[in-house]
Amino acid sequence: MRSLGFVDGKIIDLSENAVPLEDRGHQFGDGIYEVTRVYNGKCFALDRHIERAYRSLRELKIPAVYTIEEFEEMHQLLISESGIQDGAIYLQITRGVAPRAHGFPENVVPRLTMSIRPSTSHSKLMEQGVKGLLIPDERWLRCDIKSLNLLGNILGKQRAKDAGCFEAVQIRDGIVTEGTSSNFFMIKDGLLWTHPVSNLILKGVTRSIIIEELAPALGLTVLEKSFSPEFVQKADEAFISGTTSEIMPIISLSSTLVGDGNVGPITRKLQQAYQSMIAKQCG
Ligand code: PDD
Repeated sequence: MRSLGFVDGKIIDLSENAVPLEDRGHQFGDGIYEVTRVYNGKCFALDRHIERAYRSLRELKIPAVYTIEEFEEMHQLLISESGIQDGAIYLQITRGVAPRAHGFPENVVPRLTMSIRPSTSHSKLMEQGVKGLLIPDERWLRCDIKSLNLLGNILGKQRAKDAGCFEAVQIRDGIVTEGTSSNFFMIKDGLLWTHPVSNLILKGVTRSIIIEELAPALGLTVLEKSFSPEFVQKADEAFISGTTSEIMPIISLSSTLVGDGNVGPITRKLQQAYQSMIAKQCG
């Protein structure tokens, strides 16, 4: 089992030098990415990730040059060549390689790179819950695009780490948006609340699975409606969702306990339903 890269159609070692100096991803963050979890040697929800990759490309006016089947084959190749059973596959597509100038270059072919790495288990944290930190959302206004430009997210995550927290939950204009690498949900009086789909959040694959599949199966109602940090203070439960963080309970936010500070029953039910779905799809 070893981590691998995939560049220009070839499998390479992750430590190899592979990015040309004038790749626009490298110089401008001009590209998109996706992250898909591998469980038991199989990709989870890959169709949703590919669909979102196409949307991100469209929004950035980067031509899509791979078919769904090609994306699936490349993911499968990385799994079989690496021997990784539990891991994460990162896929990046940049606008291409061209002499440095802000405007789009003409006649360049978008450049795809990929990598696979084993995943570290979050099972203990998922059991106990983690701390969150409320911070101002300082990102750009197209958070719906899964762009390689992640400076705001990186700075926010570091603030959380410096405060001993797992994730920063961001606030823009008095509204709770999302985490720096996750969506945010809160539960009040049995209802699930999360920010509506807009340019201010990423439409997370995990978020969509919760809203479209897990919550209805459990008889839970989801309100995709904006809410304030003051409302979050009254939450009974809260969690973040994401490909790598899965459904991670938040037991305190900026040192204030969420509910009684324990992982709540609805979060637990959603975690179990999510694990059952993974077992069904990837078992
Ligand atoms: N994060 N919001 C942001 C800003 C994200 O970066 C992510 C994903 C999400 C959740 O999206 P999804 O459920 O599709 O992973 C929301 C990376 C990939 C992560 O999982 O850590």
